[in-house]
Amino acid sequence: MTTETTVKDAAAGEVVLDARGVTMRFGGLTAVRGVDFTVRSGEIVGLIGPNGAGKTTFFNCLTGLYIPTEGEVRYKGEVLPPKSFKVTAAGIARTFQNIRLFANMTVLENVLVGRHTRTKEGLWSALLRGPGFHKAEAASRARAMELLEFVGLEKKAEHLARNLPYGEQRKLEIARALASEPGLLLLDEPTAGMNPQETRTTEELVFAIRDKGIAVLVIEHDMRFIFNLCDRVAVLVQGEKLIEGDSATVQGDERVIAAYLGEPFENAPGDEEAAEVAAAEAAAQADTTTDAVPGKENDR
Ligand SMILES: Nc1ncnc2c1ncn2[C@@H]1O[C@H](COP(=O)(O)OP(=O)(O)O)[C@@H](O)[C@H]1O
Ligand SMILES: [Mg+2]
Repeated sequence: MTTETTVKDAAAGEVVLDARGVTMRFGGLTAVRGVDFTVRSGEIVGLIGPNGAGKTTFFNCLTGLYIPTEGEVRYKGEVLPPKSFKVTAAGIARTFQNIRLFANMTVLENVLVGRHTRTKEGLWSALLRGPGFHKAEAASRARAMELLEFVGLEKKAEHLARNLPYGEQRKLEIARALASEPGLLLLDEPTAGMNPQETRTTEELVFAIRDKGIAVLVIEHDMRFIFNLCDRVAVLVQGEKLIEGDSATVQGDERVIAAYLGEPFENAPGDEEAAEVAAAEAAAQADTTTDAVPGKENDR
């Protein structure tokens, strides 16, 4: 332990997640290969890499969905139990790349489902509906409403989950994950399918989650989102960790640029993109006006 503790590490919070030499094979395919990875309390860490790099598989190894072929994952010093509901109870919550909600339940009910690992009242109490049950249920509902307010969905508590627009379904997934009162939250592509405005509010939401003392590990393809948000970013390529560092280090790394980003990453990619779009629109506009004036249609 002591040999691996660097000065920089000592300045950060305690290690909450510690993955050592994690390898995951599916038959002949090695999806994740010998990955060492830590998340400390108070951190937002990003995991990026091309499609098929092994990001989701690695997440699944951190949540008890898969048991790594090799290596070990510890949460707050304890090896992860080999069942995902036990991992959730231990303190790791997640959202899924493909949204998994109970479509025909209300928004509030979906959050209440997320609380079941935290309610002490057992099955018998629920069946008999004794005073303990009603008290616990009222407390659960209050907490669920608080979480809906936190993600901005309190006005939709009684709506069916399937009637929410896509961006709000993603936020509901986050509320449900938070309902298990985690110490570490894993987000798999939380802004996929969101418009820029929704992405921005999600960014603020993740900062707010971190400010509540929950460490966050996030997979995302939106580089602007990742580099704005994360204290540290790790890059997976073909199952291996290529590099890990702060945003500036990762953005500037030649291998990352070659493997993933494709071209140098500007500080304000949004502005650059917007300028390109504006220029293209101006050009198109110029085309139509010149066509319209001396065109055949007008000559007749
Ligand atoms: N359950 C599985 N069985 C077999 N192969 C899988 C399974 N899950 C993922 N893979 C393979 O592992 C590799 C990594 O996939 P994945 O973790 O989904 O990548 P990413 O999330 O980075 O896009 C891919 O080649 C994928 O086809
Ligand atoms: Mg994935």
